[in-house]
Amino acid sequence: MMRYVIPVEPFDFVIFGATGDLARRKIFPSLFRRWKAGQIQADSRIFAIGRRRMQPDAFRTMIGDALRDFLQAEEWEEEALNEFLQLIDFVRIDVAGEDGWPDLQAKIEDNAKSVRAFYLSVGPELFGPIAKSLSIHGIALPDSRIVIEKPFGHDVVSARELNAQLSMYFDEKQIYRIDHYLGKETVQNLMALRFSNALFEPLWNAHHIDHVQITVAESIGVKGRGGYYDQAGALRDMVQNHIMQLLCLIAMEPPSRFDPDSVRDEKLKVIRSLDPIDDSQIVRGQYRGDDHTPSYQEDAGNETSKTESFVALKVGISNWRWAGVPFYLRTGKRLRAQVSEIEVHFKEPPHNIFQNAGVLKSNTLIIRLQPDEGITLNMTIKQPGQGGLRLTQVPLDMTFAEVIDGHARRMADAYERLIMDVMRGDQTLFMRGDEVEAAWMWIDPIIEAWGKNQSAPYIYDSGGSGPEASLALMHRDNRQWREIGL
Ligand code: BG6
Repeated sequence: MMRYVIPVEPFDFVIFGATGDLARRKIFPSLFRRWKAGQIQADSRIFAIGRRRMQPDAFRTMIGDALRDFLQAEEWEEEALNEFLQLIDFVRIDVAGEDGWPDLQAKIEDNAKSVRAFYLSVGPELFGPIAKSLSIHGIALPDSRIVIEKPFGHDVVSARELNAQLSMYFDEKQIYRIDHYLGKETVQNLMALRFSNALFEPLWNAHHIDHVQITVAESIGVKGRGGYYDQAGALRDMVQNHIMQLLCLIAMEPPSRFDPDSVRDEKLKVIRSLDPIDDSQIVRGQYRGDDHTPSYQEDAGNETSKTESFVALKVGISNWRWAGVPFYLRTGKRLRAQVSEIEVHFKEPPHNIFQNAGVLKSNTLIIRLQPDEGITLNMTIKQPGQGGLRLTQVPLDMTFAEVIDGHARRMADAYERLIMDVMRGDQTLFMRGDEVEAAWMWIDPIIEAWGKNQSAPYIYDSGGSGPEASLALMHRDNRQWREIGL
């Protein structure tokens, strides 16, 4: 199968927080891969902004070292790396002050033709001040883009405040709020599966679907990010954004077109149709330590912390398509495996004519985001061979890497796709301001209720499936979670 790489127009990409972890781990490696793939043109420029005093050469060496650490050995190519590093310049700016902005303005002005994108890989308290300085120093133009990383606020009030600050200087069409889950290969495939096959859509509703499960499990803990995480917790860190986005893509009505506002309007309708959650529909957990691994409280450096490192919820959507279909969501740290997947669990066949052939199992459609991106449809067939008719369930497997190319290959990282979308001016895979606010409006009452009842999270063992109470959340409804790491 042919693969196309369509080069994007030359651009000026300005990264604030260029010496930070995200820039070294994700942003520069993604840019390098797109450079190597031929998608970035040679007259594009990358301006790295940092607070410390640094010569551009020293910065390029630092990025070269980071790329060596974060790229896989087979991606390495010395010549491509040296060419790529030449695109990068370093400008020192203390973003909270006035110094440095005129330098950036002078450098970027050198080539006023290219489209400009400003990537804010910094804390949210700096979004407003940076947007303002870019504007008053004449660096941001009407067609420039500003890219924002999460956390986009910690409740609806702070999210509104951030939106208000940004909108003083940038139009919504210029604002790209990143949720890196939307850049994952399978997430887009989920939309392709639903809206380019006639097969699924007629079944995609409460008449045929029993329930949906979304699991985002991680085996790592919060060590090294305890300061941020302890203030956030799993609900804010993963559910308000990534998991709600997945839920929206599963549950939304078909948009009339695949364009940014058509897709985002439909996602917003889902968020606005979510039922409020009460205490019986949610389970919080926190991992304990053992002989080999520290507890959450040790990792977070807070020995009385009640922050949840695990959360499971049962969610209802009040609309014609989904009334009565529960969506079970869960995410947690230090679980058995790193797995992100969605299970769409169809209803049982209405009548079993094979009384002696075994129990009829429901069809399930598994959409795997990671690892091994792919989609599996579990079907019931006759067990092959002699000896009477017995039923068995087999997977119809679509592992993207194999099916599409005939051999395994690296999937593009979400950041590669999203950064190129910024350059192309395509906001489809980015969250709109009203979407983010609506998501907080649904999350806020849950957190408020926790604050009021002062309940503590259940403690769960590292390396398992989370607290027993989360299993009970499903058992109560005669259902069960798909096993983590199956
Ligand atoms: C981030 C969260 O947004 O997503 C992290 O802040 C989490 O806590 C990460 O580990 C998970 O992303 P991925 O792509 O590794 O599943």
